[in-house]
Amino acid sequence: MNDILVLYYSRHGATRELALAIAQGVDSVTGMQARVRTVPPVSTVCEATQPDIPADGPPFAELRDLEECAGLALGSPTRFGNMAASLKYFLDGTTPQWLSGALAGKPASVFTSTGSLHGGQESTLLSMMLPLLHHGMMIVGIPYTESRLTTTQSGGTPYGASHHARTGDDAPHGITADEKALAIALGARLARTARDLVRGAQAA
Ligand SMILES: Cc1cc2nc3c(=O)[nH]c(=O)nc-3n(C[C@H](O)[C@H](O)[C@H](O)COP(=O)(O)O)c2cc1C
Repeated sequence: MNDILVLYYSRHGATRELALAIAQGVDSVTGMQARVRTVPPVSTVCEATQPDIPADGPPFAELRDLEECAGLALGSPTRFGNMAASLKYFLDGTTPQWLSGALAGKPASVFTSTGSLHGGQESTLLSMMLPLLHHGMMIVGIPYTESRLTTTQSGGTPYGASHHARTGDDAPHGITADEKALAIALGARLARTARDLVRGAQAA
């Protein structure tokens, strides 16, 4: 068990960019690797179905990805200060994993992208932690020993990685150097934590 599941939803690509930086951090840890997965959009049209395999980008997540991972990084764009329905819909289908305790004791981190700087990054990150805590996961954040947390002029929070896309009148911005560095640091910290927990369990 040496995979970190980097699971995200992204409509316009900003959260996906953050996910790839987190995956880079995971892959920098010896013995660990990122398993990047996404979820399909939910639709109010019940007849609309998505193909099993998306046209581009990473595959859609399956429930077994949760069972097989050593840790989880969960990402969503902010939607009215909360996670997107598509990701919540996937999480609402994890009752079998909740019943079996498949995620209990595993570490988890969260990340988000917002259109505005004060439009709900922290509320989204905190609310994304709630279902993970119900699953018994252990939340891994970003410590202030990461100096960019103090100096960033864009995203990056102790609660998780974040990105300020500046949508609206501005053209959307890609992730800044600070946002990327903090996302990489979070991915690496999550992977190290998961590796140490697995090794500890094996030694016990
Ligand atoms: C329905 C909807 C609700 C949104 N709510 C917020 C919000 O509460 N705060 C905010 O700053 N941005 C909000 N946004 C903007 C997105 O969070 C932002 O564009 C984000 O960068 C999109 O990420 P993506 O490129 O991964 O899809 C909203 C966008 C949509 C479509």
